[in-house]
Amino acid sequence: MFQTYSVFETKIIEATDDGMKEAQNEAVAMLQSGETVALPTETVYGLGADAFNPEAVAKIFAAKERPDFDPLIVHIASYKDLKEVADVPPEIEDAVKKLANEFWPGPLTILLPKTAKVPSIVTSGLPTVGVRVSGHPIFRGINQALGRPIAAPSANRFGRISPTSASAVMKELGGRIPLIVDAGACCEGVESTIISIAPREGKKPFFYLHRAGPITKEQLQVFGKVEKVKPGDKLQAPGQLESHYAPLTPFRLISKPEDFTPEPGKTYGLLSYKGEEGGEFVRMHEWDSVVALSPGSGKLAEAAIRLFYAMREMDEMGLDEIIAEPVSETGLGVAIMDRLRRASAS
Ligand code: TXA
Ligand code: MG
Repeated sequence: MFQTYSVFETKIIEATDDGMKEAQNEAVAMLQSGETVALPTETVYGLGADAFNPEAVAKIFAAKERPDFDPLIVHIASYKDLKEVADVPPEIEDAVKKLANEFWPGPLTILLPKTAKVPSIVTSGLPTVGVRVSGHPIFRGINQALGRPIAAPSANRFGRISPTSASAVMKELGGRIPLIVDAGACCEGVESTIISIAPREGKKPFFYLHRAGPITKEQLQVFGKVEKVKPGDKLQAPGQLESHYAPLTPFRLISKPEDFTPEPGKTYGLLSYKGEEGGEFVRMHEWDSVVALSPGSGKLAEAAIRLFYAMREMDEMGLDEIIAEPVSETGLGVAIMDRLRRASAS
């Protein structure tokens, strides 16, 4: 289904204050030469390639072992570049403009009809393309300097936990890609919100929510009526398989403490929402390890930032099973619960 990847000695270059320009130049040169580069975004690290170069894009699929039916998101440096990649229908032009004005640069991906310039490998043959402007200054700077759109999925092997640090990228794709630009931890922690838009006569448009993310339903509904895309719906993002974000350790989301019965002799870790102060889940068992997403306060923004990091950390503990407790499913909690459910579905 995919080509085999080339073997590289993966280099990590730090985009710190002094090294910023050098990191940027090196990344741009690598992208220009038709290679892939792992880049920081505000959500998770992405594996980027020149979106207009189909051979370069094929290397993304190979490195990730990603099936060819799972399309990539295209990143543009600013709204004015949108016409390069998308033919926005006049009926939704106003809505797109308002959304871009409010949320770009930022973690909102909009599905739009693609232009002929976007190679079909990028969209897995679909007539639509997912587009966003990253809010990360390093990513955007590279996007701008390259002067071309960057196709970039999350920089993990297919189906695995998304990386929120350069070291996580190294664990996922080390030896398969030539370069990682390290700009520290990602500040959102979960992938962008994905929507498509349908116009409505005389009313605000429908926004179909294909993936919950940092831009919440509450934020979107100022501009349109948000409708959830249900699993199995043909509108669903094709790569949004029920099982995703899967640690190698068995992982189970439970909704109440009574749902857990330990098996004798097995080791269990708890991925807790608030930790000690959260209460009942922590106290219900002598856990071999407890990792809290937002210790004490249960701040959803903090829980989102720590989610993939914590899942990865627990996956490396050699436990027999990881049990996750739910977070409150409001605002950003919707995106967190989506990731926990998919990790649990494997
Ligand atoms: O925050 C993000 O969105 C990160 C950073 C790197 O930008 N990217 C990301 O990409 O999460 P990825 O490939 O891991 O997830 C993109 C999702 C997939 O589920 C894919 O199926 C869906 O977007 N997608 C992309 N293009 C699509 C299209 N034309 N129609 C429907 N779904 C699409
Ligand atoms: Mg992904």
